[in-house]
Amino acid sequence: MSDTRPTYDFVIAANRLPVDRAEGENGTEWKRSPGGLVTAMDSVMRGRDGAWVGWSGEPGEAPEPFDDSGMHLHPVALSAEEVRDYYEGFSNDTLWPIYHDVIVPATFHRRWWAAYRTVNQRFAEELAKVAAEGATVWVHDYQLQLVPAMLRKIRPDVRIGWFNHIPFPPVELFAQLPWRGHLIGGLLGADFLGFQREDDAWNFQRACRQLEGYETEGDTIRVEGRTVRAAGLPISIDFADLESLARDPEVQKRAEEIRESFGNPQVLMLGVDRLDYTKGIRHRLKAYGELLRDGEFTPPDVALIQIAVPSRERVEAYKTLKDEIELTVGHINGDYSTVEATAVRYLHQSFDRAEMAAMYQAADIMLVTPLRDGMNLVAKEYVTCRIHDDGALVLSEFTGAATELGDAYIHNPHDIQGLKNRIVQAIKDSPEERTRRMKRLRDAVRSHDVQKWAGEFLDALQAVPSDEAQKAAG
Ligand code: F6P
Repeated sequence: MSDTRPTYDFVIAANRLPVDRAEGENGTEWKRSPGGLVTAMDSVMRGRDGAWVGWSGEPGEAPEPFDDSGMHLHPVALSAEEVRDYYEGFSNDTLWPIYHDVIVPATFHRRWWAAYRTVNQRFAEELAKVAAEGATVWVHDYQLQLVPAMLRKIRPDVRIGWFNHIPFPPVELFAQLPWRGHLIGGLLGADFLGFQREDDAWNFQRACRQLEGYETEGDTIRVEGRTVRAAGLPISIDFADLESLARDPEVQKRAEEIRESFGNPQVLMLGVDRLDYTKGIRHRLKAYGELLRDGEFTPPDVALIQIAVPSRERVEAYKTLKDEIELTVGHINGDYSTVEATAVRYLHQSFDRAEMAAMYQAADIMLVTPLRDGMNLVAKEYVTCRIHDDGALVLSEFTGAATELGDAYIHNPHDIQGLKNRIVQAIKDSPEERTRRMKRLRDAVRSHDVQKWAGEFLDALQAVPSDEAQKAAG
């Protein structure tokens, strides 16, 4: 790569680019990548003339940098072995379970750790090339925790922020990681560290103190004469943009068509998740199946659409989950569907934003039941699309979103009876009560949208005194 490549004042790095490369019938195609990170950062990047460094979603050589949707995209290559060891292995079979309450056991392999280090170094080197003198570099998520320190070593002039889109675990779980000290050291290369909740930031500060002996004061950590701040800053969505899509007459027409396709049921429920064991899809289906068994309601008066976006399909725990979910859906449909009416319409696919906005508008009850989730932007998307202030959000207390969306029907998904009660309450509450709740939920998302979140993050990052200023101040 020549030295004549352009550099940028604002650069972000995430494991994936906002688009994934796929070989289609007409050659190479770029499709929007899955997950909340892309949903949020896509609109933050618009109009900033920044660069995005990330993986193209396929093993092999990296494509040349290219522009897409007003962003400068800089692909990073991952070999097939690195996809297996860094992405599927260390990121998603070691860190992911540890950071999500060990819902499934974590797997530890030294080979995976070595690949994680190698790939993080590659990201840091690419960032060092793309960032202009004194640039702001914003690193994202658990796949890139070593990048801040690696980048600081090569480019001490840049300002480095890191945001964790998933929970940060309690010290008792984090301590299981044989490489915990390296991860903490990697993160402390940043100037500012953002977490979804204050609780996550506290977990991190506690890990710094208890496991590595760092001195902490309030939300700051002293690191070799520097101060690093670690604070809770909950992510959000682009409320105005999604709401205007939801107001589009075409989207509203589509919402009506969806309801009609179920025979206009009294209650249409919806679940939208990546097919991940953290999302509590099994718990949700169990509660729904039991409500049908109890005769609380029956198709065609009620129906459930469950969208399960394919995810990490080569990781064992995800394969097992897919089989379990599909078996359960089969049982429910076998027992409770009628010739005319399907109890659960299960879709193992992803849909574009307009179709999602129509589904959110079509659904009377949104079921968000994770066992642990950093935020859950689906919950925020649903309330944004309820432009008539109706509908009901049934929300797990173990999501980051529950901290801000206390007017939802909050529940503990492990408590199946409690979850069933909340669903019934959401259905039976008066329209006035549902509207009262929905108005407040919408206000919460409207007043703290993704632009505000990004502004707060970048202000906090700029507010940390530079290394020179900190040294001069002694
Ligand atoms: O925030 C969690 C996260 O892992 C993001 O980093 C990612 O964009 C999304 O979920 C989807 O995961 P994956 O990139 O592994 O498909």
